[in-house]
Amino acid sequence: MNGMVIGIDFGTTQSKMALLDEFGRAKSIRNAEGDEITPTVVTFEDGETPIVGMEAYRQALSQPQYTLMDFKLKLGSDEILYPSKSGKKYTAIDLTALVLSKLKRDAEAALGGSVNAAVLTCPANFQDHQRQALLDAAQRAGLEVKRLVPEPSAAALAYGLQRGSDQTFFVSDLGGGTFDATVARIQNQNLEVLGTSGLPQVGGRNFDHATIQHLLKEFESKAGFRPDGKQDMAFMEDVRERAEQAKVALASREKTTVTLGARGKYASIELTRATFEKLTAPLVAQTVGTCNDLLTLVGLSWEKIDKLIFVGGGSKAVGVKEAMEKASGRRISQDIDPLRAVAYGAAIQGAIEAGGFVLDGRAIPAPKIQLSDVLAYAVGCMVDEPNLGFSNAVIVPRHSRIPSRQTRTFRLKDAAQVHAEIVLLQGNEGDPADQCLRLGQMELSDLPADASLPPRIEITLDFDKNGLCSASGKDTLSGKQNQMKIDYSKGVSRMHRS
Ligand SMILES: Nc1ncnc2c1ncn2[C@@H]1O[C@H](COP(=O)(O)OP(=O)(O)OP(=O)(O)O)[C@@H](O)[C@H]1O
Ligand SMILES: [Mg+2]
Repeated sequence: MNGMVIGIDFGTTQSKMALLDEFGRAKSIRNAEGDEITPTVVTFEDGETPIVGMEAYRQALSQPQYTLMDFKLKLGSDEILYPSKSGKKYTAIDLTALVLSKLKRDAEAALGGSVNAAVLTCPANFQDHQRQALLDAAQRAGLEVKRLVPEPSAAALAYGLQRGSDQTFFVSDLGGGTFDATVARIQNQNLEVLGTSGLPQVGGRNFDHATIQHLLKEFESKAGFRPDGKQDMAFMEDVRERAEQAKVALASREKTTVTLGARGKYASIELTRATFEKLTAPLVAQTVGTCNDLLTLVGLSWEKIDKLIFVGGGSKAVGVKEAMEKASGRRISQDIDPLRAVAYGAAIQGAIEAGGFVLDGRAIPAPKIQLSDVLAYAVGCMVDEPNLGFSNAVIVPRHSRIPSRQTRTFRLKDAAQVHAEIVLLQGNEGDPADQCLRLGQMELSDLPADASLPPRIEITLDFDKNGLCSASGKDTLSGKQNQMKIDYSKGVSRMHRS
């Protein structure tokens, strides 16, 4: 299998794999259980031996204390999410690597050969350290990541490849854990992302949480007590699962009944569509607001959007599409598979990265489509201005095309200054530093003092095709240079805008 690159959509709740066939169509790769979808769940049998996927999901009920979910959202943090009985410590990277290892193994079994390279997807506004963490996990799983593609861009690729005519379209991806929105244009087989936005903490699981709170309240009023997370762990896991099942049921039914039991007390709770929609209305409003804001940001109106594409399992929940159709006055296109579109897009990009490949003697061609993506946020440098205080001076504006390299020059604050600490911030021009995300910092030291204080500190930011940032600083007076060292320690920036 020379040069094969598969597509992997590592989802918060479920992961999917795909590969292009000889006709240029994306197909799911089934896992060892024969399913197209693998729950992103890890459980530790006897508290020690990891099990991944559907079996882990099933065991969540019987051993919730050993079961981990939603760890994709923790990528980039060093938090120990699970210490095994023998003392082995697992972070989100370790758990992600376990899932990716299973996917790789299963793909190899399904395809009958070794799988060493993949295109992976990630939420559009995944930050530098989160992207890096995902790449590290893939490396540990033995996968070379040929490209990291934002999830809505991947869905746009899957959609764009099918289109004969040029058009501008809107992709909305409500997954299990995150919401992403992207505006894209396809023209002469060039897929250009115009802008992207998202809610990193809004997904189907939040719809479940809203439902869980309601079910717990109802259970309490019927059973006379409120179960607690510690004493009734299995009950809480049961409510989570039943809340999700109720959400799925309400997508096609007017009402459903949820029966819950704890400490020998049982209660049947009726849940109607109307109640569910009321419970989840604030979440739906947030997604619609994000889409409207994005459109304004890219200078378009809904009339200019030819198609609305909805992907992600969460978008099947009742009320989500309806609210969007109402807000946009546009019908949602039905001609894309909402659960698999992201993996399909990753598979398309995989074949592009491979330049085509051969599988079982069949030539898989590289699709004739090119993705041009943008940076989801602005990145700048912390400056200390007399009137603004510590604030952000943007070096790379939001929606810059990636790869991107941009430079901005700064003045030092004091004539006697011989040291500069440069702090990179994610945020808009002039935003107070404490409202920005601190990406990292670097230092330039032993600088010659300069009484004239001209703009002289040149900061260059490079964003590669995966959206990963590297930075360098140069003192143009002395020629001193430094590379950015990403760390999260505190620092101050004694510089001014040039
Ligand atoms: N028929 C349905 N009705 C309502 N919700 C559904 C339905 N089917 C799936 N879901 C929900 O979709 C979510 C999973 O969707 P998806 O596979 O797109 O997410 P993911 O890729 O794991 O997450 P993310 O993209 O946020 O990382 C879950 O919250 C699930 O409950
Ligand atoms: Mg997803």
